[in-house]
Amino acid sequence: MALPEEFLEELRANNDITSVISSYVNLKKRGRNYVGKCPFHNDSTPSFTVYPDTESFYCFGCAAGGDVITFIMRSEQLVYIDAVKYLAQRAGMQMPENNYDDSFSKLRMRILEANREAAKFYHSQFFSEAGFQGLSYLRTRRLSDQTINKFGLGFAPDSWTALTDHLLNKRFTRYELLQANLSVESKKGTLIDRFRNRVMFPIIDLKGNVVAFGGRIMTDEKPKYLNTSDTPVFKKGEGLFAFNIAKNSKSDKFILCEGYMDVIALHQAGFDFAVAALGTALTSNQARMLKKYKETVVLCYDSDNAGQLATQRAINILRKENVNVKVLQIPEGKDPDEYIKRNGADGALKFKLLLDSIESDIDYKLEQLETQYDITDTDGKVRFLTQAARMLSEIKNDIERNVYASKLCEKYKVSLNDFELQLAKFVRSNNYRSSQDEFKRVKKQLTEKPHVSADDKGVKKATRAIRAEEALISYLMSNPDMVHSVYEKVPPEKISSEFNRRVYTALTQRLLSGRSAGFIDFSGEFTEEENAYIAAVFAKFNNELNVPQACSEYISVILEENEKQTAAQLAEKSPEEIQKYFDDMMKAKKK
Ligand code: UTP
Ligand code: MN
Repeated sequence: MALPEEFLEELRANNDITSVISSYVNLKKRGRNYVGKCPFHNDSTPSFTVYPDTESFYCFGCAAGGDVITFIMRSEQLVYIDAVKYLAQRAGMQMPENNYDDSFSKLRMRILEANREAAKFYHSQFFSEAGFQGLSYLRTRRLSDQTINKFGLGFAPDSWTALTDHLLNKRFTRYELLQANLSVESKKGTLIDRFRNRVMFPIIDLKGNVVAFGGRIMTDEKPKYLNTSDTPVFKKGEGLFAFNIAKNSKSDKFILCEGYMDVIALHQAGFDFAVAALGTALTSNQARMLKKYKETVVLCYDSDNAGQLATQRAINILRKENVNVKVLQIPEGKDPDEYIKRNGADGALKFKLLLDSIESDIDYKLEQLETQYDITDTDGKVRFLTQAARMLSEIKNDIERNVYASKLCEKYKVSLNDFELQLAKFVRSNNYRSSQDEFKRVKKQLTEKPHVSADDKGVKKATRAIRAEEALISYLMSNPDMVHSVYEKVPPEKISSEFNRRVYTALTQRLLSGRSAGFIDFSGEFTEEENAYIAAVFAKFNNELNVPQACSEYISVILEENEKQTAAQLAEKSPEEIQKYFDDMMKAKKK
């Protein structure tokens, strides 16, 4: 099961934690460590720290922590072995022989290979009789050959088994084709192609893997678009179409639209920062993906009712992730693709003008709100303004809020003073609400015993000892050469918490035998949760107290508490047991 020691050691040496993490987080040096905004929660202050000494990271905001492998597991949403592979690949290392269980990651590899082969197959159809109508269709939709190639578009022929046969010939198994959702089972139990007689849009992830497909029928039949269902390599609501291209765009924003064709038309017109959420409502997961690369997202959904509803929803989701949201409304009830096409040669320029004149999400929301009231009527106007004040009160920045307030008052010819009074009332009650929430959160944190493993729960252990044990573990991680003198004074059995004892044993065993003891070295022996806990311990004590004097202090606390504990236990024992205890102790000393 376990990976060889030397391999992990080399993996660690080749994947310096600071440089791995800095491609995800903007890190700034602080003392010996690096800090940045945590990628795992919505972090307003930099609460995420990287400790090069122990090759670990820890976030004081959300308690995420661990080593470089844990980091990749979380960032790339991979299981342990796949995170190791990911890092091996990054460092150009060969994985060791397969003596561990990787059947699932093998399956994923096979699915990606099958998808790639399928994309090639679909694309090659354009140059055959069976696929020529697909190519013609895309040309009538004004896509250039260059665009068709760039997006790797293709055609699934009008046949029951064309792709299935092709892939079976290429030695993919029935199971793999079903798992990839490229084939499905017919009523008779035979395999048939999932996509038939459709133009095909491959969905490509950041590593360049084809993870799924969307296919459009060329007539008015339903469903218009058919997408790959969830597979081991693709989950609905996770990827974004054209994200692999858009994230590298020079633009400081993304355009988020509804459909494949919108994205492609925009890219063809020079807007290479357009993406789409692929037939689902935007998810927070996708919002975070966007936020990772750019601050601003311009929503550009269809101007029909469904599109407006989706816009409202997307605004809320993006705002929650602190994305700066703008809304681009396409005039005349069109989607971006149609708008550009209808305007012919001027399409790109006109879209650019729209893009330059866009309104903020607040303007958009206010306009939408207004449509719900009859503001020619005094009562309607008052109710509208009250709702508007409630809406503006959600804006956290005072200046931004006041700008909208005065704009609004000017537009609707009402007294700014009165409006601001109303607004201030809402702001106060919001603040009260969020301070209540904050209080509840802090209280919960204080009453919950954080991260302590199950064996420590409910048992009244001296927390003083536990603290000292944690500090000592942390000290040893940054001062491995002290292991001999520490171990002599504190053998593992003196550690009171069972979990700390496990960590201490693993750590000292490694160090005493001359091996290194960064997290990565023994992270395999602990669960993900335990690893986060170890990282937390280290982060908590990684400070100016990491000096030999402090170490002596930790040791004396541990020994003192241990004596107390032993004395308490002895007090409950019979005289014979006490005698035996002392005898054993004397024998041990003579050795
Ligand atoms: P639209 O129907 O607005 O698509 O659906 P569109 O891109 O404008 O299509 P064209 O221009 O007629 O080709 C928007 C998106 O919703 C998803 C697709 O991702 C589509 O691009 N969708 C739509 C589906 O997944 N299934 C459907 O049946 C329809
Ligand atoms: Mn369209």
